Amino acid sequence: MIVQKGESMLQQIGDKSPHAAKADGIYDDMRHDWWTSGFWPGMLWILYDMTGKEAYKNAAWGWDEKLEAKMMQENNFHHDVGFQFLPTAIIKHKLTGDADGLRRGLFAANFLAGRFNMAGRFLRAWNQDKVGWSIVDSSMNLSLLFWAAETTNDPRFKHIARAHADTVVEHFIRADGSVKHIVSFDPETGELLCAIGGQGAGPDSAWSRGAAWALYGMANSYRYTGDEKYLRASQRVANFFIANLPSDHVPHWDFRASEHRAEEPRDSSAGACAASGLLDLASMLPVAEGKVYRDAAERMLISLHENYAAWDLPNHEAILLQATGNRPSGTNVNVSLIYGDYYFVEAVAKLNGWKNHIF
Ligand code: GLY
Repeated sequence: MIVQKGESMLQQIGDKSPHAAKADGIYDDMRHDWWTSGFWPGMLWILYDMTGKEAYKNAAWGWDEKLEAKMMQENNFHHDVGFQFLPTAIIKHKLTGDADGLRRGLFAANFLAGRFNMAGRFLRAWNQDKVGWSIVDSSMNLSLLFWAAETTNDPRFKHIARAHADTVVEHFIRADGSVKHIVSFDPETGELLCAIGGQGAGPDSAWSRGAAWALYGMANSYRYTGDEKYLRASQRVANFFIANLPSDHVPHWDFRASEHRAEEPRDSSAGACAASGLLDLASMLPVAEGKVYRDAAERMLISLHENYAAWDLPNHEAILLQATGNRPSGTNVNVSLIYGDYYFVEAVAKLNGWKNHIF
């Protein structure tokens, strides 16, 4: 079904840089420095890797060049360059040996490394005036730094990634496994100031996609370093995530959204991302210990497939329905989001034996 859908998405999306599709099912076309610009090409690279069809490779090929061109102009690239260059430049280099992909990936890694605040040991978020803010989403961008350290044999990138990962374990992941979205530090001294709700319901809430970023990002940090601290952190978040799922296994946008959580919107993208991270987590544990995570991932993917997918809507350009971008700001609530589609395809590819990690 995914392969069939991939064929129609190839035609329908064309040269667009898709982010969200609302009720009409038509994906928008965002600027190339927007944080989601890597997901559609990433999906194309996975489909190419799984099927060998040149059409997917041809459609994915030029994306890292587009990102590089935007880098050289006025732009708003920030902490999310991992989300953008890992599924474009770096997977292109891994699959084809392309030297430009390698060069562009290392350029992005240097850009991300330059955002490190040594006093607070965190990668700063966004570009506006909040220079002491860091966000849990950056857990997923660490793979760019770990990859650069391995590729160049220069451990500076790894030192920065590990320092940030330590900060996530210490200051973002609570003892119960729930996760904060934004943590504010004094950018001069590095002193912890406070947690901020951000895309979650509040400073004490549990934004589900943030939890997905953390559980997957910490699993990646363990894969690259072998440090059990990250494995246990990933498990802690995974246990909270699984324990708080509703009966159909697809999360609400925040596990602590309100006292009337059942009436709150779902976030299918959080489910898809968490499922893909859970599969990796399971694969790095002894079989018996990993089973709970693999089973949970499979239940989530089956429910997404059966209850949240647009298989019967041929004019709907996305795969998954009922995703939530930013509930507090009222932006993209109950829509389709390209990262939901990407992580769904990635997770299903993993279940079918795909081994080439993008993140
Ligand atoms: N990285 C932003 C988000 O997850 O919505």
